[in-house]
Amino acid sequence: MKKMIICTAAFAFAFTCAVAGVSVAGNHGPAEMTLSDTGKKPAHFPHKAHQDRSKCSECHHTDGTPGSYVAGKEAACKTCHNKDMGNKKLNSFKKVSHKKCKGCHKAHKASTKCSTCHPKKK
Ligand code: HEC
Ligand code: HEC
Ligand code: HEC
Ligand code: HEC
Repeated sequence: MKKMIICTAAFAFAFTCAVAGVSVAGNHGPAEMTLSDTGKKPAHFPHKAHQDRSKCSECHHTDGTPGSYVAGKEAACKTCHNKDMGNKKLNSFKKVSHKKCKGCHKAHKASTKCSTCHPKKK
């Protein structure tokens, strides 16, 4: 009987997590980030606010195929999107960021002004 209760509780927990779309004890990364490639034009990225609106797989893919998302395997975009990538349209952090960030902002009528992501230096 005791085993049964533990099992039910474990199932309920796993189920809740699956529904919420989060991994058990998952690493969500920083809540706020300053993204920078060469340091010339850093971008502000409120990660947490975006996580609250979108699924992780919206931005993270673990082998490149859209939807190929394995929680816990998120990596810096530059690990793959660098000058060694064959596809010249996707071979830098800037290129994939503009495609991804601006692409979604455009689709959702969010701001695509440079200063939205690249705050002016004070
Ligand atoms: C493990 C390697 C890897 C990592 C890490 C990775 N990507 Fe990719 N990504 C790929 C591959 C491979 C492709 C497909 C390339 C092609 O079509 O030539 C791709 C394609 C893309 C595309 C074009 C297809 C689409 O979905 O629009 C975008 C944009 C993109 N990645 C953005 C990102 C961003 C942003 C990050 C970081 C949050 C990231 N990627 C991290 C490997 C990776
Ligand atoms: C709107 C896009 C977006 C969404 C949604 C998103 N992320 Fe991210 N995440 C990023 C970007 C961009 C980075 C920084 C990548 C880089 O430094 O190249 C990042 C970085 C991370 C990192 C640090 C990776 C590393 O080792 O450098 C983790 C962990 C992470 N995200 C987890 C998550 C999880 C879990 C979710 C869903 C709950 C999520 N993210 C949702 C865009 C997103
Ligand atoms: C999947 C869609 C999506 C992606 C991908 C995305 N964003 Fe956004 N972002 C939004 C939406 C929608 C808003 C507007 C939210 C609002 O006005 O309530 C927003 C708002 C913002 C804001 C303004 C926040 C504020 O406080 O007003 C910044 C800055 C931002 N995004 C940066 C980025 C950066 C940098 C990236 C790429 C690393 C990115 N976003 C990728 C959907 C996205
Ligand atoms: C929705 C967010 C967003 C908007 C809007 C945006 N960018 Fe970016 N941009 C990024 C991100 C993320 C990166 C990659 C990280 C970095 O280096 O800043 C980037 C990279 C860059 C880089 C490369 C920086 C380097 O160190 O190599 C330049 C230059 C740049 N952006 C210029 C612009 C200009 C000009 C505009 C307006 C026409 C603009 N961006 C609009 C998010 C954005």
